[in-house]
Amino acid sequence: MTDLSEKIKGFVFNLDGVIVDTAKYHYIAWRRLADEMGVDFPPEQHDKLRSLSRMESLEKILEWGGLYMTEAEKLHWADVKNNWYQGLIANMKPEEVLPGVLPFLDEVRNSGGRTALSSASRNAWAVLKSTRLESYFDVVLDGSAARKAKPHPECFLLAAASLQLAPAECIVFDDAVLGVRAARIGGFHIVGIGKPEHLPDAELVIPGFTDCRLSDILESVEKMATVG
Ligand code: G6P
Repeated sequence: MTDLSEKIKGFVFNLDGVIVDTAKYHYIAWRRLADEMGVDFPPEQHDKLRSLSRMESLEKILEWGGLYMTEAEKLHWADVKNNWYQGLIANMKPEEVLPGVLPFLDEVRNSGGRTALSSASRNAWAVLKSTRLESYFDVVLDGSAARKAKPHPECFLLAAASLQLAPAECIVFDDAVLGVRAARIGGFHIVGIGKPEHLPDAELVIPGFTDCRLSDILESVEKMATVG
């Protein structure tokens, strides 16, 4: 590992959109719900739900459809959506892990880096199980771990604490504006996954993990830390 490995020892990954593409399954389930309610919900609209909790997502859909529900009805429909979603992720396959993720995780672990998965999803364990990823992470925190939603950094702070590292010793990998913001507020190094114009708060943005070398990531983050 490069010199920075003296400083960077932890690697904290968001799940949805970083390790696997579960967004398409969330969309199928939310879309089914929207259809039942007569709410127009085109795919591009789903991007606006990225990183939002289950209940926040439902509230957005209701808002777009100009619909009102009591708290009890919201809980009921959020549950219905979750059952549909769980049916879909139960059939996920290991081949659905995004390109380059496994070699990158192997490289991190072989270099002595500690890995954490920090997801806002309460279904994170089920996804890890279907895609056989459970053993790749030293620590797994699902949506039941943090009480405060992103951009509060609680989920990442808990991950760093579980790895027994300070935020400045960890890189967070996240694909969403809210996640990147949370990592920045928490004092982490941040690698955004996606397009640089969408994630201006990230120190480095990569399109994904294909051909992604740990040494390149560490070098770029080190450069940005020096500049910043
Ligand atoms: C992640 C996803 C969101 C999802 C949230 C809760 O943040 O990006 O789209 O709403 O997790 O997921 P859950 O599986 O608990 O409904």
